[in-house]
Order: sequence, then C-alpha cells, then structure tokens
Amino acid sequence: MLLQENIALAPLTTFKIGGPARYFVEATSPGEVQEAVTFARSRNLSLFVLGGGSNLVVSDAGWSGLVLKVAIPGIEQRSGHDDAGKVWFDVGAGESWDRFVSHAVMARCAGVECLSGIPGSVGGTPVQNVGAYGQEVSDTVESVEVFDLKEGQVRELCREACGFSYRGSIFNTTERGRFIILRVRHALEPGGAPRLEYADLKRHFEGRETRPNLAETREAVRHIRALKGMLIVPGDPDCQSAGSFFKNPVLSEEQHQDLMKRAKARGLTVPSYPALETWKKVSAAWLVEHSGFVKGHGFGSVGISSKHALAIVNRGGATAAEVMALKEQIQNRVHEIWGVRLEPEPVMVGF
Ligand code: EPU
Repeated sequence: MLLQENIALAPLTTFKIGGPARYFVEATSPGEVQEAVTFARSRNLSLFVLGGGSNLVVSDAGWSGLVLKVAIPGIEQRSGHDDAGKVWFDVGAGESWDRFVSHAVMARCAGVECLSGIPGSVGGTPVQNVGAYGQEVSDTVESVEVFDLKEGQVRELCREACGFSYRGSIFNTTERGRFIILRVRHALEPGGAPRLEYADLKRHFEGRETRPNLAETREAVRHIRALKGMLIVPGDPDCQSAGSFFKNPVLSEEQHQDLMKRAKARGLTVPSYPALETWKKVSAAWLVEHSGFVKGHGFGSVGISSKHALAIVNRGGATAAEVMALKEQIQNRVHEIWGVRLEPEPVMVGF
C-alpha cells in the first residue's frame, strides 16, 4: 500500500474543484482496501472512499483524513448461464463504468446499454443507483461484494439487501459509510434487445424500419448525452460538472396539485412522470429554468450549463464556495416560486 500525503483532489473529480486530501491511498485489491482501513483506524482518521469522482463536490478545504481511492480492476465474464439464462459479469469497483458498458455491448449482452457514457467507476454506481434513458443499475445488479467496516470483513450483499430506490440504496441512506464496494456482479441478457423506452431515444430512432441493436443504442445514448453536456468531452466547458446537480423531486399527490396550481396561474405545465402509486416525479431541470436560472446562466467561473439546466458547471477556476452559493440561490428561488425543496444529487465532501 502506497501512502501519499497532501494530494490534490480537484484533478480526481469531473468538477475539477476542491482542496487536497491530507492522506491518500489508491487500493488495487481488497487486501489493500483493508490495509488502508487499518491505517485510518490506527491514526483515528476519518475515511472518505473515492471512486471515479464524477458525482462529487469537494470543499475548498479538502479532506483532513484519509481518501481511499478504490481502483480494483477487472471485468470477468463467468462461464455458463444462471437459471434465468442471464450471463454474470464480475466487475472490479475501480473499472470505468463506460468501459464495462462497452464490454457488455460488444459481448451482445443487454441490460446496461442505456447507461452508456456515464462517467465514473463501477463501484460508485450502486451507491446512488445510477440511472438514465430508461435503465437503472438496480435492474441488473445481482450482488455487491463489500468490505463491511462494522463487522471488519468482506461480505456479499444480494440485490434485495442493497435496498435500491430512485437515486438511492442502503449505501447512501440507512447504512451510509458502513460498506466499501469492492466488486459488482451484473446479470445481463445474452442476445437481448436494447431497451428503447425513453422519449429521447424513441425520437432518435423515429422512422427507422429495423430495430436498433445494442451497439446502435449505445451510440445513440452517447450522442444524446453529448448534446446535453453529460458526456465528458475534453475541452467542452459544459461537462466540467458533477452531472445533474439536483434530484428530480418526488411529490405526493397533494404537493403535486399545489405545484400544478402555481404553474397554471402562470400559464405553464410542469413535466411530470408517474413515480409510485400516489407520488409523482417532476422535472428538476424545468423548475430550475422556470425560476430564472436558464441555460448558460451566470457570469464568471460558476454557472449553469448551456446545454442542460440541471448541471452546475465550473467554467474554470471555480471554488466550492461559489458552487454552494449558486446551489443555495437556486434552492431558495425554486422554493419561493414553486414551493418545492430541491435536494442536491452529488455527494458533498468535507463541508
Ligand atoms: N428539461 C428542462 N430543461 C432542461 C433539460 C430538461 O426543462 O434544460 C426538462 C424537459 O421537460 C425534459 C425533462 O426535463 O423532458 C427531462 O430531461 P432529461 O431527459 O435531460 O432528464 P433529467 O430528469 O434532467 C435525468 C437524470 C440524468 C439522466 C437523464 C436521462 C436525475 C437527477 N437525472 O435527468 O442523470 O442522464 O435523466 O435519463 O435523475 C445524473 O444523475 O447525474 C444524470 C445525469
């Protein structure tokens, strides 16, 4: 285990913001993860587990304890099928998520093709149950191998034990901070058809006679993401971000009625989607835009992406304090006008 000191965290994030880590370890095996945990405990250091850094806001002061970057590699396709005819892929937490998707698509296995172009590492995806274009990782996660900090041992959690929900799991709610994800097992469908449910995707393929294959679906998703600044394209200032900055609020019937009333008074309708039976999910991007924070909003180093109202972008040299100030402005205005409290989606580190 190589222990480093005072390592800049900003370059390890897609936002390119934040101070240094007092101590830093990059672990390439479960054994090194355990070693790092033992070191942190012996020095009484608070531990932060870093993956691909694509969903983080790191404070300007950085992290005063140990940052553990989980860099366990490997994509292993298990031979044979399970009872449901699915093929299992065991993927190291440190693998690039998009490399895994590309691998699955090339192996003609369906289940994650709509999650193409998402930045970050495999280990981060179960935490907030990453989802896009009609798929969520919880659809295919079979089990997650973790280091349990409470019991001090490696364990295997099945999908049900992960408690997945919209942008949620036990890893970012009830058991936050307890588990370090080491490996994720996905069950994919060999020869399966791509999922073409999301409106943007349907529109992309409109008028086509033959059904798109997995590879074409992957390309389409990457294309759509690029148009929204949600694909990392070096040199594009709109992708220096943490992706969606707010979750799409899930409202009760009553809250939704109130929102609709407010919108109607202005001659508007809020894009809404069914969530659970008596709940509705509404578009956070729409609320942000209709509160005066239009695409391209803001001067100087921090602003709103010119391609998607839901992304706060670092146009160069931004500080975490500036990001948090804009976040609060947006939350306050949206609450004032629409009566809805937006919840940030990225993980806040060192605040
Ligand atoms: N919209 C606007 N203004 C915009 C963009 C979108 O009003 O600038 C409205 C439109 O009405 C549109 C609706 O928002 O129909 C939905 O837009 P989009 O398809 O871009 O989806 P989103 O709800 O903004 C979510 C995820 C994204 C994911 C996309 C595609 C969350 C918080 N975000 O965004 O995930 O890529 O759907 O499935 O659920 C992320 O979590 O970091 C992320 C990028």
